[in-house]
Amino acid sequence: MRRRSIKIASLFLLGMGISEIIMQLKSAPQDATSTTREVQEDTEKRTLCTMEQLVQGKWTMGAEKDKPPYIPTPGERQQKTCHGFDPSARWQDWEWTPEDHSRCDFLNSDIDSNLFCSLARNKTIVIQGDSISFDHFLSLSHLLGVPVAPPRAVPKDPLRVSKICNGTSMLIGKKDFHLQQVGRIIKEFHPDVMILNRGAHYVSDEQLIQHLNSTVIPHIVNWQDECVLEKKDCHFVWRSTVPGHPHCTQFTKPAESVEEMEMMIATSPQYNWDKFKGQNELVMDLLSGSSLTAFNMFDGYPINILRPDLHGPAHNDCLHTCLPRDNIYSFITLHLLRLWSE
Ligand SMILES: *[C@@H]1O[C@H](CO)[C@@H](O)[C@H](O)[C@H]1NC(C)=O
Ligand SMILES: *[C@@H]1O[C@H](CO)[C@@H](O)[C@H](O)[C@H]1NC(C)=O
Ligand SMILES: *[C@@H]1O[C@H](CO)[C@@H](O)[C@H](O)[C@H]1NC(C)=O
Repeated sequence: MRRRSIKIASLFLLGMGISEIIMQLKSAPQDATSTTREVQEDTEKRTLCTMEQLVQGKWTMGAEKDKPPYIPTPGERQQKTCHGFDPSARWQDWEWTPEDHSRCDFLNSDIDSNLFCSLARNKTIVIQGDSISFDHFLSLSHLLGVPVAPPRAVPKDPLRVSKICNGTSMLIGKKDFHLQQVGRIIKEFHPDVMILNRGAHYVSDEQLIQHLNSTVIPHIVNWQDECVLEKKDCHFVWRSTVPGHPHCTQFTKPAESVEEMEMMIATSPQYNWDKFKGQNELVMDLLSGSSLTAFNMFDGYPINILRPDLHGPAHNDCLHTCLPRDNIYSFITLHLLRLWSE
């Protein structure tokens, strides 16, 4: 089980996809009749996209549905409800479509909760980091049918537990944007999956790397060792940080070019958003060279940098995205569970 995660992480690093390898094996010469060719295509289509394949793609408009995926609870504060959201109207939304979608499978428009729950059975999944990670937690809780009632007083660094899948699994959301409480969360919850990010709260490169190297990574390494002792199949996931979008109110639909978005961010530097790309790379290098036994890169950057249109109704907030439209991280979470179970 442990080997598998190593495989995924290292394939990602090598820039090589599992499905690419399978395709190479399949393209060995043979005289295929048209029937077997069809079967082959069908099989190829069902090969899961690798993380590498997944992040290359574009936003396309999905099919219309009867109703929204869920109704955000009023008062989810920073987790603002999308502008003009009408809970009783029919629903249509942008969907992330990997370039390779004809060759590999990614479920981009809904969470199949039976599938999610069978893969997450008996597991505790922690999502810890900035407020965007907290949105990820809220989105996934909602998509799995757990109502997220806000407490009366919203603490600055909330810790919330969603008993998902009829109570057979746990989803923990911890807002902790400087990742000061990784040790505490591990000790308290014994997670099977940890999805961390350091988020949009800028500190210098030196401070960032120093803190991760001296505090966060050692906690994760200890946790990975404990998982081996307890014979648990644990997975560590690092999510990259996506900058906000200057002038976001001008956008009514997703962007198509990462380079154009990067240019816009570079030419109107604010909140150090222009530095996030470089810091994502620094963290990636640090994790790759660390003593972690395995890690998975959850690369939100190339996907959500294309969503300048996804910000909430507050004109001065071009960083946070709105619910119930921002669910891509939940879909990627299910995708990771599927990859791990292969
Ligand atoms: C779930 O976990 C508990 C405690 O770790 C264990 O006793 C139980 O057998 C597990 N159930 C399943 C279905 O794996
Ligand atoms: C939860 O329990 C209900 C009622 O027993 C069942 O219909 C449903 O399929 C279960 N859902 C999951 C995700 O296990
Ligand atoms: C990280 O910490 C280890 C010691 O635990 C040290 O050897 C290494 O040089 C550090 N790396 C960086 C990039 O600071």
